[in-house]
Amino acid sequence: MSVGTGDSADAGLYGAEEEDVCRPTDLSELLKEGTKESHNRAENTKFVRDFLKGRIQRETFKLATAALYFTYSALEEELERNKEEPAIVPLYFPQELHRKEALERDLCYFYGDAWAEAIQCSGATEAYVRRIRHLGRTRPELLVAHAYTRYMGDLSGGQILRKVAQRALHLPPTGEGIQFYVFDNVTNAQQFKQLYRARLNALDLDPETKESVVQEANHAFQFNMQVFEELDKIGTALPEAQDGGLPVHDGKGDIRK
Ligand code: HEM
Repeated sequence: MSVGTGDSADAGLYGAEEEDVCRPTDLSELLKEGTKESHNRAENTKFVRDFLKGRIQRETFKLATAALYFTYSALEEELERNKEEPAIVPLYFPQELHRKEALERDLCYFYGDAWAEAIQCSGATEAYVRRIRHLGRTRPELLVAHAYTRYMGDLSGGQILRKVAQRALHLPPTGEGIQFYVFDNVTNAQQFKQLYRARLNALDLDPETKESVVQEANHAFQFNMQVFEELDKIGTALPEAQDGGLPVHDGKGDIRK
């Protein structure tokens, strides 16, 4: 069975491609090292720090979900359009990774059946979307940077945010509203990320292009931070929520687990 064309994400199938040795010129290493500072900054934005403390209002979470919807719609449409490109083929995992449909379910839960008429693309999201669309048409190999930044993040810190959101917003334990964070077709996130890294490393890119991918990943972080800033401003302007947030430690262990 071929992997990377949307086939099953059974962790066992992926083992063979994983690499134990990493070289400093590997794209996965260049990306990890080259975006470390951006990651640090993103993790430490006020929006993310508040979110981690459970200080997120339902209205802001709904707007964040809408922003993600516009972003992933653009990203996944451009990945689909470019799925035959040599740099995209090995990283094309629609069944495992694509989030558009999960986001549609979340929006339907929050806004009802007429969700599509209820949401709008914000200014910061619009800029992010424009960049993705531009790359899809002009430099599809740089879409790799955007896919890496979002999907690897979703499979990592995203899992913490899911638990916090569920508790802070009193969302049902059955998963309505947080489908975005649930990867039904990835049985082992750690192993999948290893496969994704191996696929990044196997791309046939010259050093200049690799450097451009890292630079673009830093732009992707920047776009995300601009969306967070916008959400933070909107959240601050909303009337104070009754529930002022959640303790990270509640006596029953760390809720970030
Ligand atoms: C990786 C946590 C926010 C993008 C990771 C990892 C952790 C983490 C623990 C390492 C996972 C591993 O090596 O297996 C967090 C936390 C966040 C956060 C707690 C705040 C809630 C973000 C944001 C983005 C992002 C906002 C981008 C929009 C990434 C990426 C990786 C990653 C691309 C993969 C790094 C690599 O191995 O190359 N994150 N993260 N993260 N995160 Fe985050």
